[in-house]
Amino acid sequence: MEDSNKPYIRGEINKTGQSSSVGLIIRQKEPNNLETPFDQVDSFLTPMELFYIRSHFPTPKLELASYQLNVDGAVRNPLSLSYNELRDMPSETRIATLECAGNSRVFLIPQADGAQWELGAVGNAEWTGVPLGALLERAGMEEDACEIVLEGADQGTPAEEPVPPNPISYARSFARDKAMQREVLIAYQMNGRDLSQDHGYPVRAIVPGHYGMASVKWLTRIYAVREPFRGYWQTSDYGYWDYLDGKPVRRALAEMKLKSQIARPRVYQTLAPNQVYPVFGAAWAGETEVTEVAVSTDGGQTWAKAEFLDPIQRHAWRRWKFDWLTPRKPGQYTLLARAKDANGNVQPDKHDQNYGSYVINHPLPIEVFVSDTSGTL
Ligand code: MTE
Repeated sequence: MEDSNKPYIRGEINKTGQSSSVGLIIRQKEPNNLETPFDQVDSFLTPMELFYIRSHFPTPKLELASYQLNVDGAVRNPLSLSYNELRDMPSETRIATLECAGNSRVFLIPQADGAQWELGAVGNAEWTGVPLGALLERAGMEEDACEIVLEGADQGTPAEEPVPPNPISYARSFARDKAMQREVLIAYQMNGRDLSQDHGYPVRAIVPGHYGMASVKWLTRIYAVREPFRGYWQTSDYGYWDYLDGKPVRRALAEMKLKSQIARPRVYQTLAPNQVYPVFGAAWAGETEVTEVAVSTDGGQTWAKAEFLDPIQRHAWRRWKFDWLTPRKPGQYTLLARAKDANGNVQPDKHDQNYGSYVINHPLPIEVFVSDTSGTL
């Protein structure tokens, strides 16, 4: 384990799973797409029962006894590991925030196609597994391999155009350099318990710093390639427009963008006047660190610094709070939160259209009402 001096309190979550869960919100019944009620988030680690589920196909049921993880492609010694062989390898435990690239899509105007995620397609968990780099070293990855492809056992035909002629497996690739970073795990545990079926049982990848689509669940194959992988979720889906010499080029989404979200109050909540209300939320970034969160209670005209509840820990979110003395004047108020990272970048003012219906990381308006002293508006 890299860091024995972890700055979070283990007791914050109930690892027996009989916990504090208040359940998830259904966005799609089959396949399973459920989001966290973000206003219920309190703990640094999101309990497994409260962690969002994003699946493209029906959940495959893998048996431990017959499970095999193949590592092949541009390697000298292809491997085929049983579950027990994987468990016998040295493991690491790390905390990472996963955010679905489509999180907060419901805030887009006009409404965009796709699951109407509110704020809850994001969570922060502790993951245990074998570093991907250790497997690639053991398999003897070739010098000229440029990317690593991760493939899951789930299969089907994507609903969105262009529809491929035959069913395909969920697969994603990423750069060799990232794959060799110790933080990338082939994980079998989440918050100290075996993965649940929905979260990728028995084995999934965790790619800290990248949007959730990179963290392939029900992982059965890892292969090194010499040419960039052009699979469906690398090109048709989870892509964005970049510009090269002024010309648009399509690229695959990867690193998570800086973002801060307000968990409480929730949209259209009514608050009492002239009282301190603790505005609470979380902020995260991809490969950098969140160093500041500012909150506006007047729709972005003025900003004040929030206070962090968690220290900086690479790849993990930081919860924050801001004590708002609510106005005496009843009415509607718009709250916003805006994060700054270690490089001095702040969240953009508005959604970048080049990302289509993904990467919704502008400050999201939370409209609330302040009542008069009698509690009416
Ligand atoms: N892996 C497989 N095999 N199939 C999938 O549909 N969905 C991806 C990723 N890994 C997916 C997958 C997406 S889009 C996200 S956001 C994360 O899993 C969500 O992980 P979770 O369901 O454990 O929260």
